[in-house]
Amino acid sequence: MTTKPAAELPRILRANNQEPTRIFHCWRRQPFTKSGSLFISLVLIVTSLVVPAMAQRKVELSVDVSKAGAKIDHNIFGQFAEHLGHGIYEGLWVGRDSKIPNTRGIRNDVVAALKAIKVPNVRWPGGCFADEYHWRKGIGPQRVVTLNSNWGGVVEPNSFGTHEFMDFLDQIGAEAYVSVNVGSGTPQESAEWLEYMTTPQASTLGNERATNGHPEPYKVALLGIGNESWDCGGNMTAEYYLAQLKIYSRFVRNFNPAQHDKQEMLKIAVGPGGDGPRWTDWTETIMKGWQNHQWSWDMNGLSLHNYTVVRWPPAFKSTGFGETEYAQILKSTLDIDALINKHSAIMDKYDPQKKIALVVDEWGGWYAPLPGSNPGFLVQQNSMRDAVLAALNLNIFARHAERVRGANIAQMINVLQAMIITDKEKMVLTPTYYIFKMYLPFQDATFVPVTFNAGTYTHDNVTLPGVDAIAAKDKAGKLWLEITNVDPNQSVEVEVSLDGVTAKSASGETLTAPKVDSINTFAAPNVVVPKPITARVQSGKLILNLEPKSVSVVSVEQ
Ligand code: AHR
Repeated sequence: MTTKPAAELPRILRANNQEPTRIFHCWRRQPFTKSGSLFISLVLIVTSLVVPAMAQRKVELSVDVSKAGAKIDHNIFGQFAEHLGHGIYEGLWVGRDSKIPNTRGIRNDVVAALKAIKVPNVRWPGGCFADEYHWRKGIGPQRVVTLNSNWGGVVEPNSFGTHEFMDFLDQIGAEAYVSVNVGSGTPQESAEWLEYMTTPQASTLGNERATNGHPEPYKVALLGIGNESWDCGGNMTAEYYLAQLKIYSRFVRNFNPAQHDKQEMLKIAVGPGGDGPRWTDWTETIMKGWQNHQWSWDMNGLSLHNYTVVRWPPAFKSTGFGETEYAQILKSTLDIDALINKHSAIMDKYDPQKKIALVVDEWGGWYAPLPGSNPGFLVQQNSMRDAVLAALNLNIFARHAERVRGANIAQMINVLQAMIITDKEKMVLTPTYYIFKMYLPFQDATFVPVTFNAGTYTHDNVTLPGVDAIAAKDKAGKLWLEITNVDPNQSVEVEVSLDGVTAKSASGETLTAPKVDSINTFAAPNVVVPKPITARVQSGKLILNLEPKSVSVVSVEQ
């Protein structure tokens, strides 16, 4: 397992007693007259006598239906599958001879679950693993058995290689985001891998792919040029990495004719992993390099890695925690907004037209390994807190839709903030999975601005916005609304007005759970599952009652 000495780590988050970042909601303050304030004070005193302590909070939310923002790229719902623990082996690959129902070695239950959330792309084979991956060991009838030196030093059978990955993508209907080995490989090795995957020609590599069972060229939608090259990917300086980037960008070519004009392969450069000077310098160097780039190389995206961890090494429990840890983790996760703002501002300097996407290709909660698990396998549970965390992050990406055009949650199965947890033949869908399912309408939808009085939720010395929300119009023009009630104790009555338009109805799904650390298990898989929610209409406004710690997505009829 990669050790991360504290001094090296970009992601150490700020003290918990900071003020919450309020970036998207507006506070509506009314001017008071003296008599008015006396009246309000009296009302408050009377109200406090008759209303129980946990009164329902009221939120006014207004949707500016006439205004359209950027497209929320479906790629922000991407997944990440690394050769790490049981992320690949057992999680999705069981082999053709397994008793677990499978298609050419790939679990049928996992495929069905992933198909249902329309995974846009899967980043593979790592992570840190990618910079030690040698693709030739994972093709053909005779696989080379190696060691996974990053993640527990376990045996890597290489039985899941290029063909199995592409077959898996085919089965779930996703695109390939392949990360090539910059750290310990060569430009030639990566160039040959791309030729092997993408050429329709009868070159030796093209023929070899056909002999191995796939005459048609594969598509590679996204190409990651290295991974965390500032750390596990080779401890490079930004200048050194920029030189590598130019070489890989020049020589690692996609030969698939279907990707020449349309669906061009997007090249993603290694980007920052934090907000300090080391990271802003990195972004400056790569973006400045790109601004002055010659015809012979290019890039389309800059990656950003951000885990919600509070401090390294990860020590927060993934279940069996209380409200304090709920509030601290969610406060920490909201820091990603400032991080995106910081790096976007640098990108704007060199790329005001926003040609280069910011791709948050590793994000999610990273907690202490589950007791008894191999610490190199990054096994953790996934709770209601993770559902709220996922919603808050996706909303931040959506608000930055102009620049953030890709994101990959870490990781898809059995590792970190997973969609799916398996144990031999058993499989369970996590609360995070259901968030991705509920957010389906937002894939490629057009962002619509909303304003709301978020209020605050405070626990101990941690204060957060009480509510979060986004709105978007899907391709058919239907309006969708997402509202998260962050407060784990108070329900919220949301009054939605549609800027001059009369709302007729709204219905959808809401996800909540008995406790902040509620989880789904093999024995009890339906503890955290979405249930229907409907708004009532009152004077042309929609009234939604949201339970504490809940995430709700509704479609609105106007
Ligand atoms: O997701 C686990 C690891 O976190 C990845 O391999 C690496 O890129 C990051 O440090």
